Amino acid sequence: MDPPLDNVVAPDAHGLARACAALWAGELVGFPTETVYGLGADAMDESAVARIFAAKGRPADNPLIVHLPDAEHVGPVVDAWTPLARRLAEDFWPGPLTLVLDAASQLPRVTTGGLATVAVRVPDHPVAQTLLWDVGRPLAAPSANRSGRPSPTEAAHVSQDLGDAVRVVLDGGPCPVGVESTVVDARGRVPLVLREGSITREDLGAAETVTDGDRLRASPGTRYRHYAPTCRVAVAAAGTAAATAHRLMGEGVTVGLVATEPPPPGVVGVARFVDAADLARQLYAALRTAETAGVGVVVVEAVGEAGVGRAVMDRLRRAAG
Ligand code: TXA
Ligand code: MG
Repeated sequence: MDPPLDNVVAPDAHGLARACAALWAGELVGFPTETVYGLGADAMDESAVARIFAAKGRPADNPLIVHLPDAEHVGPVVDAWTPLARRLAEDFWPGPLTLVLDAASQLPRVTTGGLATVAVRVPDHPVAQTLLWDVGRPLAAPSANRSGRPSPTEAAHVSQDLGDAVRVVLDGGPCPVGVESTVVDARGRVPLVLREGSITREDLGAAETVTDGDRLRASPGTRYRHYAPTCRVAVAAAGTAAATAHRLMGEGVTVGLVATEPPPPGVVGVARFVDAADLARQLYAALRTAETAGVGVVVVEAVGEAGVGRAVMDRLRRAAG
């Protein structure tokens, strides 16, 4: 392991003070949330937000999520609450739910990728909470990976991808959820799910999921290839992962395995998991481990499409391309 870069700091009073100073100076800060690490900048500061897009290599039309300490702080960012948004915020904030609403006119359009709507969320992580209260600014924060790469679930992943483009990374350990927040258009009467997450349609009540075509128009981020490591990713049905890995070995590539079963001889054991929530926590780190282990293809065992399993399978299919 490389020694940690000195921009990775403990989230103590000193680290938080450094993070706030960087944000007030228009610089970028990596911070943990319950889902994945975010790459934060002052959402109201155009040039700070432009730095996010540059550091990630992110297309300018892919809008950012604005993070707030609580629902009382939506004022400068959101034009109008809807009854639906109020109910969802009451039920799920703080937590891994992002609401799309009409954007306030003073919110820079670079933050919203040029859209008249804005995505907002209140993260449920003590370090993110303390940072948001201390900094006193809404923070635009996409996942803190280079565009197209697996999202970071540990502080070291942030420095691996972004190096010193990020001034400070607050190290809060591994993220407890591991997949990104559920994104919901909350402007209408029923929630419209734009991106699956650990909060499911069933949790939301009477939610609709947009069709693929509508999703592309409504949520620009889902248009791009995502979550892909440099090695190939193959998805195998439950109970067939070890056999699939064994078969792929016959093709003469180094094969890695992420499964509930142990790896057969000759296959690199990348990660073991017990259920969908456990795979959610481990998936992105496992994809990065597979890369560093130099495997040519990593076989990942599928999980059931229920609960967080649906989000995990969505990410897995995108990673597999
Ligand atoms: O869990 C998360 O949401 C993490 C943590 C850091 O909070 N953030 C995250 O951000 O995943 P990002 O930028 O990687 O993904 C944001 C997603 C993209 O698919 C983007 O297109 C969508 O949210 N989005 C943002 N603003 C939107 C808007 N106004 N309308 C529709 N979709 C929007
Ligand atoms: Mg992302």
